[in-house]
Parts: sequence; C-alpha cells; structure tokens
Amino acid sequence: MVNNELIVLTLAHVLPDLTPEQISEKLESPKSSDLGDVAFPTFSLAKLLHQAPQKIATDIVSKIDQTKFEKIVATGPYVNFFLDKNETTRTVLSTILKEESDFGRNTDGDGHNVTIDMSSPNIAKPMSMGHLRSTVIGNALANITQKNGYVPVKINHLGDWGTQFGKLIYAYKTWGSEDEVKADPIATLLRYYVEFHEKASIDETLNDEGRAWFKKLEDGDLEAHELWQWFREESLNEFTTIYERLNIEFDSFNGEAFYNDKMDKVIDILKEKELLVTSQGAQIVDLSDVNPNLTPAMIKRSDGATLYMTRDLAAAIYRKETYDFSKSLYVVGGEQREHFVQMKSVLSLMGFDWATDVEHISFGLITFNGKKMSTRKGDVVLLKDVLDDAHDLALKQIQEKNPALGNKDVVAEQVGAGAVVFHDLMNDRTNNFDFNLEEVVRFEGDTGPYVQYTNARAKSILRKSNHDVIGNYLVLDDNDTWDIITTLNAFPSTVQRAWQQREASIIAKYSLNLARAFNKYYANSKILTDDAHLNARLGLVKSVTIVLTESLRLLGVQSPEEM
Ligand code: ARG
Repeated sequence: MVNNELIVLTLAHVLPDLTPEQISEKLESPKSSDLGDVAFPTFSLAKLLHQAPQKIATDIVSKIDQTKFEKIVATGPYVNFFLDKNETTRTVLSTILKEESDFGRNTDGDGHNVTIDMSSPNIAKPMSMGHLRSTVIGNALANITQKNGYVPVKINHLGDWGTQFGKLIYAYKTWGSEDEVKADPIATLLRYYVEFHEKASIDETLNDEGRAWFKKLEDGDLEAHELWQWFREESLNEFTTIYERLNIEFDSFNGEAFYNDKMDKVIDILKEKELLVTSQGAQIVDLSDVNPNLTPAMIKRSDGATLYMTRDLAAAIYRKETYDFSKSLYVVGGEQREHFVQMKSVLSLMGFDWATDVEHISFGLITFNGKKMSTRKGDVVLLKDVLDDAHDLALKQIQEKNPALGNKDVVAEQVGAGAVVFHDLMNDRTNNFDFNLEEVVRFEGDTGPYVQYTNARAKSILRKSNHDVIGNYLVLDDNDTWDIITTLNAFPSTVQRAWQQREASIIAKYSLNLARAFNKYYANSKILTDDAHLNARLGLVKSVTIVLTESLRLLGVQSPEEM
C-alpha cells in the first residue's frame, strides 16, 4: 500500500518500542469502510505496555500527528486512519502513471531463483484438465514470483518414462501402423494404450510383453529407443500447440527420462546413509520414524527398475545443484500429496537441509459437467476442444456486442482462452470445481471476459478523449472514485499476499473487485465532460487500465484493446 508508508512513519513517532516493519505487519483493513481506510489493532501491544488495548488506542490518538490525515480515531482496541482523499488520490495516481506496469513490483525475492515444476503431462496421452490446471497455476505463480523480485524457472517435468511405454511399443508393433499414428498421433497412441488394457484384462501375458519392451527401452535397445523418441516428439508437438494458445513458455523440458543417468547418485547416497532396506525384493526407504502414518518410499522395484519417486529425487537434487533455488515448487494435483510428503522426507533423511524449501502446490480436481476423466478408459475431454468451444462462444458474443470489430478471430481467441484460464485461477486452488463452459465465457459476472471487457471499455475512453494525461493535479474526491483509489492502493500488498499464500486467486479476485469498482464509477459519472477535473478523471481511467492489464498479465490472460 502506497500510503501505508505515511501511516507507519506517523505511528513510529508515538511507538518507539516497535520497528517500522513490526508496525507495518500489523496494519489491516477495517471491517467496514465507514470505520476508516486502514486499522492498527493494539491487542498485541497490551503485554508489552502493560495496558488495556482500548487505553493504548486512545493514548496513541491523543499523541499522534493528525495533520496529513482526514482524521485518526480510536474505536475500541483499534486506531483507525481516515486518509486524506485528495492527498491519497494524488500519490496513488501519480505513482501508477509514473511506474506503469512496474507498479506493485517489489524486491522481496532479491533475485533468487524459484523453480516451478508445472504442466508435466504424460507423453502419448492427451493433456488432461488436471495438467491444464498445473500449467496455468504454475504460469501465474511464475509471473507473481517475478513481480516479487524472484527469478522463476519454469520446468516441464514431462512424464516420458515408465512401463506404459513398453506397453505402447508392444501395442504399436503388434497391431499399430505408422500412417495411423502420423495422421493423428496422440489420439491414435491413446487408442493403442486403451486397447492394450482391454486385451490385457483378458490375456494377462500381455503385461509381461509390455514389461519386456520397457526393459529393452531401459537397456538402450535401438528400436525401442527410436519408437519412444518418435512418440515423444509427436506428443510434444501437440502439447506445444496448446501452450502456444495459452501463451505459455518453459525454461526446461527435462522430463523423467532426463534423470535416467542421474539416479545412481541417489542410490549411492541412500546406501551410504544406510537408508535403503529390502522389502519383498524391492528397495525402499522406511519413513515410519518421520511419521508413523507414512508408507515407505519405493526406490527400486524387485526387477531392478527405478520408479517415479527415484526420478523425482534425482530431479530435486539436480535442480538444487543447477539453479540453487530459494524455493522449489511442484504444482501437482492433490492426489499426489503423499508422494511429495515422502519425497521431502527422504530428502531430509539424506541430509539436505534445503528439503524444507520444497513445496507441493496442491490443487483440486476439475470435473467436467459432473464427471471425472480417466485416460485408461479413454473417456477424455480434449483441451483442444475446450479451447475451440471457448473461442466459438466468445466469437458469438463479440458478433452480438461489437459487429464492426475488425480482428474478431484474434480477439475471440484472447477472450476464449483467457476465460478458461481466469476461471481456473479464480477459486482457491485447493477447491474442487465443475467446469461449465457457457458460464466461464460469459461477459458478465465473475469471469475473465468481464475483466477484459471492463479494461477494453476503459481503454476506449482514453482513445476517445484524445488527451494526454498530465501526471500532477489529480484531485478527485467523490465516493465512487475513492473506492477505486483504495483498491488501486492495495495492489502492491495484494501482489505480496498472492506470493506469500501461493494463490493466484488473490490476483483474480482483486481484478474482479477493481473492475466492479470501475464499472460503478463509469455508470455514475460523465468521464469525458470537458471541465476542470477532466485530466484527473482520465488519470484515474488510465491508472485503472494499467493495473487491470497488469493483473491479467500476472494471471496469464491477455488484454484486448477492443472487444
Ligand atoms: N507426469 C505426472 C502426472 O501426470 C506429473 C509430474 C509432476 N511433477 C513431478 N516432478 N512429479 O501425474
């Protein structure tokens, strides 16, 4: 909050026992706006000062310098600050107009790296809605991380290794065809995989064939390796079209296979620390000392094959060595909670003190019109179809609202994809939710298109005005304006909170609030009237578009100029 600095300074004069940081941490928003703009609760000072909170609050108010505020009052145990509206408006707007898209940036991260394991779909399968969540949550967190002064490293830990590729190779070699795969790679490979499971449920021996082919692959058999390579490339091509539509880029595509030659090191350390135990032929790490409810971590199967866990341990160590991260995030669905608890526990047992910097960023399940999806049975909702349908729904509304718009298809894509992304980020990430496309792409209500539309409307006012906003003399003090000013003022602390809680939804909700405040103002005022306050009103509109555009950018949603 821009103006919290003034409040902190003012309070520091009468509270010499507290540091400015301690004061700043305690500031909060009052329960309702008629109680003031910022509240300072005194409960925690009672012990220090040997006084009742109410008494502390009245004492502070009697001593404090009120000159730069509208007023400062004690309400029970709170000191409530009413900001000087003119003064605040001037500072908030001139700061935003000067800093533009840098507004809200801070240096908390001090340039440290944060690795973000995100998206990470499994090759030869369509990307699921779950992987879409991981992709968009990861991307938004990366942007938020950066805004807080860290350097994000976006890693796509592709699921490109495991017994399923043995099954796939067997299926392809036994009843597949090159032409079929080339024509429609992922759908065809998925069909082979599904057919394999159908056949294996009748004839058990197929599983042995699949395992044998995976063993060949692991041992470097040329034919197996070439097929695997081909499936991987075709899969990446299809994933890339989705990433392009969502405007998402990665810093690394090192998937599970990348760690094939990096697992011996893991096994060596585990042996050296005497952590490996043999159980029914398999190598495991017992975790009951860490937590009696934790099942052991499986490191090697009885046939010697390594596992998802082994590759993840190798990846965690590789990331620390390569990026020296200050935090290592894994954006993965809640169903893998135990896997990450195990992984962190093994890393600490191995003696890596940075294990505490590893965080599972869990998220809830998306159902599609009430149904969960499963690739084994083949009943999948394809992301491509979701984005295509979102595009069409957006286009329909644009045609109704703005038939003269020139680049309708481009805008429909920005709005359609933006709607899907925004909806995904709008709720607390651990919530489960059902996906209904009609609702997601609506231009009214709590949607991405609503925020985009509001932003486009503000931009069009600026275009119509044909006026360059002058950064000083920005005086406005009606109530609708004040609502916008306090919301704009809260952007920097909102950016901090979004990172502290690893919640992109905080930014999404913020953008909805700002859009609502602006639409109320827009409905009640004549912005373009040529009077003494025209420049100030346009300064307000411009500040709103700057902060809305930046909020949407943090979420990974584009801002069309017109729609
Ligand atoms: N490919 C995995 C899956 O689809 C997700 C990988 C998540 N990242 C990791 N480092 N384990 O379930």
